[in-house]
Amino acid sequence: MCMGDGLVARVLRCSLLLLCVEPLLALRRGCEFSITHSNSLYNFSLAAPSRKYPHGVMSEDGFYKIAVNESLLLYQLCDQMIFNHDQPRCLNCQGCGGPLHCGMQCSALVSENIGGYFVCTTIGQASNVNISLIDRSNPEKGVIVKMFSIGPKENCSLSVSVFCDSTKVQVYNSLTMSGSCDYATKLRHPCGCAKVTSRHRKGLGWFGTLLIIVLCPFGGYLFIGTIYRYFFLKIHGAQAIPNLGFWCSLPQRARTLLRSLVRRLQGFSRDGRGSYAPVRDDRDFYRPASY
Ligand SMILES: *[C@@H]1O[C@H](CO)[C@@H](O)[C@H](O)[C@H]1NC(C)=O
Ligand SMILES: *[C@@H]1O[C@H](CO)[C@@H](O)[C@H](O)[C@H]1NC(C)=O
Ligand SMILES: *[C@@H]1O[C@H](CO)[C@@H](O)[C@H](O)[C@H]1NC(C)=O
Ligand SMILES: *[C@@H]1O[C@H](CO)[C@@H](O)[C@H](O)[C@H]1NC(C)=O
Repeated sequence: MCMGDGLVARVLRCSLLLLCVEPLLALRRGCEFSITHSNSLYNFSLAAPSRKYPHGVMSEDGFYKIAVNESLLLYQLCDQMIFNHDQPRCLNCQGCGGPLHCGMQCSALVSENIGGYFVCTTIGQASNVNISLIDRSNPEKGVIVKMFSIGPKENCSLSVSVFCDSTKVQVYNSLTMSGSCDYATKLRHPCGCAKVTSRHRKGLGWFGTLLIIVLCPFGGYLFIGTIYRYFFLKIHGAQAIPNLGFWCSLPQRARTLLRSLVRRLQGFSRDGRGSYAPVRDDRDFYRPASY
């Protein structure tokens, strides 16, 4: 009873923990992308921390900011935005935190000056992300992170091209608009570079397969033999292993065989005719070691 209760409690605790951690995992997973291309696995982990970039591709400030013409684009990759300073002030911030917490509940926001007023449009949500390659034929170029926002009047999106650059971070002050509400920008970042794993060495190869085919029946024979001898013949201890004497004598046999082989070869090279060395008696194999 006690043990059962403990188990139930543990299972409950685990499920609770999983439930709490799940949204976080989902966001993280949303920024991982892997693809196989010409026998290699390209693994992009945009949000993975490194020594030099503890936030991965995410902006340390909590957001990236781009100003073009009278428009302001604010976005974060792989997460929602956070504002400790420069919080956007604009009308119409529903969909991204409302007037008091504007910018805090989405991943991308455009603020436009319309007749002297700044009006905000939510263009990306952290939960709606799609990652694809910049160049389908060359995964080393980087990835496009596309965020979506599904609104009552219109659907919007922001595509951020993250170009692989192993040396530096560069945020371009560029914003292009296509369609009614689809924006695009780009940056260069080391996190846009894939971890490449060659797939050649995966799998066992024919030799490994052969080894398994040979070893499995042998292991099965030893196992079943031991069980049989232990339970039915009531032979306990190391003696339960079938043919123990034979296995133990194996090293000795190998040595003797090697020795006789060497002797034969020596004889062969001595009289140039070979194979006239006296054939050893089989009893030799069982003689105790005398070296
Ligand atoms: C990609 O890399 C991440 C972290 O480096 C790892 O957790 C993940 O399992 C990898 N994915 C694949 C498909 O190898
Ligand atoms: C900025 O202005 C230029 C010319 O005035 C226009 O062609 C371009 O589309 C504008 N960009 C945005 C993002 O509105
Ligand atoms: C997400 O990207 C894949 C290609 O990588 C594409 O086939 C799919 O349509 C995209 N989804 C959306 C909602 O755009
Ligand atoms: C927005 O997208 C949703 C699902 O992708 C679709 O059902 C809806 O019709 C779209 N709305 C507009 C205004 O295009």
